[in-house]
Formats: sequence, structure tokens, C-alpha cells
Amino acid sequence: MVNRAIAYASEALPDLGPDRLTDLMEDAARFNRDAGITGVLLFDGQRFLQYIEGPEDALKIAYGRILASSSHREIIELARGPVGRRMFPYWSMRLLPTGDRELSQAAHADWRGFVKRAGREGSPWAAMDYLAAVAEPHLA
Ligand SMILES: Cc1cc2nc3c(=O)[nH]c(=O)nc-3n(C[C@H](O)[C@H](O)[C@H](O)COP(=O)(O)O)c2cc1C
Repeated sequence: MVNRAIAYASEALPDLGPDRLTDLMEDAARFNRDAGITGVLLFDGQRFLQYIEGPEDALKIAYGRILASSSHREIIELARGPVGRRMFPYWSMRLLPTGDRELSQAAHADWRGFVKRAGREGSPWAAMDYLAAVAEPHLA
């Protein structure tokens, strides 16, 4: 089955407290688990950057739910398209706390093709390299 992915950045509402954030994550995890969606959600305390991947129909519904949420604003789509294989097959919803610099670096990096580039000679990090680096300490 061909999977697709979407990445976006947004700004949390100032009154989004930890309890509401937890509820929101549980709600998202429930939907994603049932729908076969996986991915990560970076949060620097103010801004979100989410990457989700899965079957097209399910992804469309999840993204619709995300766009409709009143918990964040200024949603900027960073990329969307097909993906070869899943990058985060083990996480239906994973909140990853980050610094604002890391989040910003990922947002401004190259998202084309959702591929990693680090290690290839002369290549700057692509967005997926930043995501992998943020996720790596949480994989143990
Ligand atoms: C930052 C963020 C990430 C979300 N991620 C997902 C998701 O991955 N899948 C999903 O189905 N819904 C997702 N949602 C939607 C929530 O699960 C929930 O349906 C929504 O926040 C409820 O609306 P409210 O925020 O207006 O109360 C997300 C919402 C936000 C704000």
C-alpha cells in the first residue's frame, strides 16, 4: 500500500495547558491507532511541528481534525506527498519536547521527498534528518 505523509508547523494557543494537551494527545493517539497513522509531534512549549504518515484516506481525515482544532493557530503546511516506507512505524502519536532552535531548524529544512540526506557528501541536513535526531534519544 502506498503511504503518504504531511508535515506542518503551528502555534499553540497561549492557554493550552498541560491537562488539555494530554487529553488532546490521547484523543489523537486513539484516532491514529485505529486509522493506521504514525508520526511525531515536536513541541517547544509554544510551537508544534507534526509529521504524520499513513494511508491517504486516513491521513486526510486526521489532517482535517488537526486543521479543525481550536488548540492551535497559524498552521503552515510544510510538505505533503508519497513516502517509500514509514519513518516512525512504532509511534501512532509521540510528543517529543524540543528546543525552539531544533524545531525551527526542522521547519526550515528541505522536506522534498521526505528523505534523509545526512551522511551524503556535501549534503546539508534535510528535515527528516532533524526529525530522526530529535526522535533518536527516545528510541531506547
Ligand atoms: C498539535 C495537534 C496535533 C494533533 N494531532 C492529531 C493527530 O495526529 N491525529 C488526529 O486525528 N487528530 C489530531 N489532533 C486533533 C485532536 O486529536 C483533537 O481532535 C482536537 O484537538 C480537538 O479539538 P480542540 O483542540 O478544538 O478541542 C491534533 C490537534 C493538535 C492541536
